[in-house]
Amino acid sequence: MSGGYKVFVTRMLPEPAIEKLRNAPEVAEVRINPHDRVITREELIEGVRWCDALLCLLTDTVDAEVMDANPNLKVIANYAVGFNNIDVAEATKRKIPVTNTPGVLTETTADLAWALMMAVARRLNEAERFLRSGKWNGWGPMQFLGADVWGKVLGIVGFGRIGKAVARRAWGFDMRVIYYDYVRSDEEIERALRATYVPFDELLQVADFVSIHVPLIMHGPNKTYHMFGDREFDLMKPTAFLINTSRGPVVDEKALVRALKDGKIAGAGLDVYENEPSVEPELLEMENVVLLPHIGSATNETRTRMALIAVENLLAALRGERPPNVVNPEIYSAEAD
Ligand code: DGY
Repeated sequence: MSGGYKVFVTRMLPEPAIEKLRNAPEVAEVRINPHDRVITREELIEGVRWCDALLCLLTDTVDAEVMDANPNLKVIANYAVGFNNIDVAEATKRKIPVTNTPGVLTETTADLAWALMMAVARRLNEAERFLRSGKWNGWGPMQFLGADVWGKVLGIVGFGRIGKAVARRAWGFDMRVIYYDYVRSDEEIERALRATYVPFDELLQVADFVSIHVPLIMHGPNKTYHMFGDREFDLMKPTAFLINTSRGPVVDEKALVRALKDGKIAGAGLDVYENEPSVEPELLEMENVVLLPHIGSATNETRTRMALIAVENLLAALRGERPPNVVNPEIYSAEAD
């Protein structure tokens, strides 16, 4: 181990992770984007040119041009479970390991999907806005009537770690859980999670809550880009709610606006958007939509765990080891040479 590596971090992360990085014997110098904002492309390229190892965020687009800035880049460690911001194929071509932070944010993100479900069905944000505005003049039998969550049908699209954690939470609400995924889970898992596999269209037709937990895949047979559009909203029940805590571009946001305006669905709870940080202006005006600023994993505990894992991945790569959470493991196989 040379102990002389330079690490570029594209935004300030929880302190324990930065401390770990600064104290690591593999690391000579750590440079952190000093601004509390998304780094510009020029700043990113400049940082990549300078460093040996990159610790980046889902808001940083790391593509061929960025990688071209440094042919000796040793690792791209993403501070997120999703890694659609990185051109993994390009990194693989250059034998650069790309890593993510799976597992640690599962339960926290599942909590948020549930928070959105409860908030939109029971009109929490709308009711709170009403109270805070000083308009509340006492209990009323017809005030803020929402929809029950308990006893309803929860449709989970994408049955990976987070989808399964969302399913588990439904037990206490006496819900029937159905799910759709490209790959059907083992019967044992289905039984343990009390979840029934159904084809995608059937899920859309039957579910009272449709919660999305797929990764964003732009092309190919498992493409999830615009998986939800006019056709899918047409199939959903007019009383159903859409919940998205995965990635914005999985939903055609303009089609969602149309569906909400035309009453094709009852409401939506969103934590992610097609063109973050902008949001379709019409959504901002709708009371039956709960909008959060991509905070699925935003708890102190989880963000710290994510940062520590990102650092562990990065340090392993600097030591020449295979990082625990590498998303392009093929670069370590003999055939890759
Ligand atoms: C992720 O990790 O992919 C989330 O969107 C942010 O924590």
